[in-house]
Amino acid sequence: MAVSLSFRLFALAYLHAQHASGCYTSIFSFGDSLADTGNLLLSTGSNGTRVGRLPYGETFFHSPTGRFSDGRLMIDFIAQAMGLPFVRPYLAGGAGGGGVNFAVAGATALDVHYFESMGMEIKWTNYSLSAQLEWFRHLLPSLCSSASGCAAFMSDALFLVGEIGGNDYNHAFSAGRSLTEITAMVPDVVRAITSAVDELIGMGVRTMVVPGNFPIGCSAAYLSRFQNEKRDSYDPRTGCIKWLNAFAEYHNRLLEEELRRLRCRHPDVIISYADYYQAAMEIYASPQDHGFGESPLAACCGSGGGDYNLNSTAGCGEEGSSVCSDPSRQISWDGLHLTEAAYRVIAGGLLGGHIMPSIARACPELNWTVLDNGAGYISSS
Ligand SMILES: *[C@@H]1O[C@H](CO)[C@@H](O)[C@H](O)[C@H]1NC(C)=O
Ligand SMILES: *[C@@H]1O[C@H](CO)[C@@H](O)[C@H](O)[C@H]1NC(C)=O
Ligand SMILES: *[C@@H]1O[C@H](CO)[C@@H](O)[C@H](O)[C@H]1NC(C)=O
Ligand SMILES: *[C@@H]1O[C@H](CO)[C@@H](O)[C@H](O)[C@H]1NC(C)=O
Repeated sequence: MAVSLSFRLFALAYLHAQHASGCYTSIFSFGDSLADTGNLLLSTGSNGTRVGRLPYGETFFHSPTGRFSDGRLMIDFIAQAMGLPFVRPYLAGGAGGGGVNFAVAGATALDVHYFESMGMEIKWTNYSLSAQLEWFRHLLPSLCSSASGCAAFMSDALFLVGEIGGNDYNHAFSAGRSLTEITAMVPDVVRAITSAVDELIGMGVRTMVVPGNFPIGCSAAYLSRFQNEKRDSYDPRTGCIKWLNAFAEYHNRLLEEELRRLRCRHPDVIISYADYYQAAMEIYASPQDHGFGESPLAACCGSGGGDYNLNSTAGCGEEGSSVCSDPSRQISWDGLHLTEAAYRVIAGGLLGGHIMPSIARACPELNWTVLDNGAGYISSS
């Protein structure tokens, strides 16, 4: 509490000196299921995906919205903290107020043909990052027109570019590819992300947040898939698989290096890195301090297999799965995705210091109440 309070005072003091104009007026987002507020569901119809069924959405929206969680995602908490409406999915149609969300669950950073050339099939969606950018390019003329109008529009808009890339690796791991092969993909994935950033700058975007990857070695889906690891593969402090986390850190390191290069080339653009890895690790390192329960790594919604409540015969939302009694005590929702409770804490951590350079500086009146999970702690570093 003390940490977060002093951070807030610092943020406020800094702000009043720097920005009198206030926060962003819209959010645009590209990415995958960590940010999708409905596009996959709209693209497949409610029978096409289990995210169209309860228990998805049960905690906050009380009905499925296409979000891969029991409730709100990080982007929802960020929008609420900034006093903005939830960011509407592009496929819901219409433009304007509050921004647009182009993220599609299952999306990859690289295009389908990259995976085809590796002999892999992309099953979840073909709306990769470049397809999402195409949507934005198509929509842009309806958002602003004159050069000065567009400059003003862009200066008030916040762009989230990711997280994206996680599915590129998910596909490769689930196709049984070796760590060596998957590690060789990382520079290509990072290049796809930084090319998107470059293109957006070309289209006039001025403030971007580019997230890294989560610690996938703590993900119930990965823990379950690699359950037969040797004991010394696990971090005894967290129960996470070390080599998978090292892989996520490798991706993040490369991404950060490229973002540093982009910042030098575009000093007039704010290109922030969102450290999803560290923000999430704060929970995995001390789950109880953040209000989580005794076996926080297991999925809340699953079908009872193994140590992580995951059984490939029935995923969350499918016949034979069930939901834990209190989702707010679990970090993992369905194995790959997190609960609203976890997303809330991580969003607080991001706005509290894990987005660098900070975007909260432009927002003197962030609503920290929205981000407080009741454990009385908003992380900050
Ligand atoms: C969805 O599935 C239900 C149950 O199988 C069926 O009754 C319904 O017609 C389907 N809807 C569409 C749009 O296909
Ligand atoms: C994705 O696949 C659908 C159906 O096969 C097709 O209509 C659509 O054009 C494809 N989209 C992209 C971005 O390739
Ligand atoms: C997964 O579910 C199937 C069918 O209910 C069951 O036979 C199997 O033992 C389960 N696996 C685990 C690891 O619990
Ligand atoms: C901040 O969020 C809380 C919880 O959602 C809400 O009750 C409150 O009205 C919000 N405050 C402002 C100033 O918007």
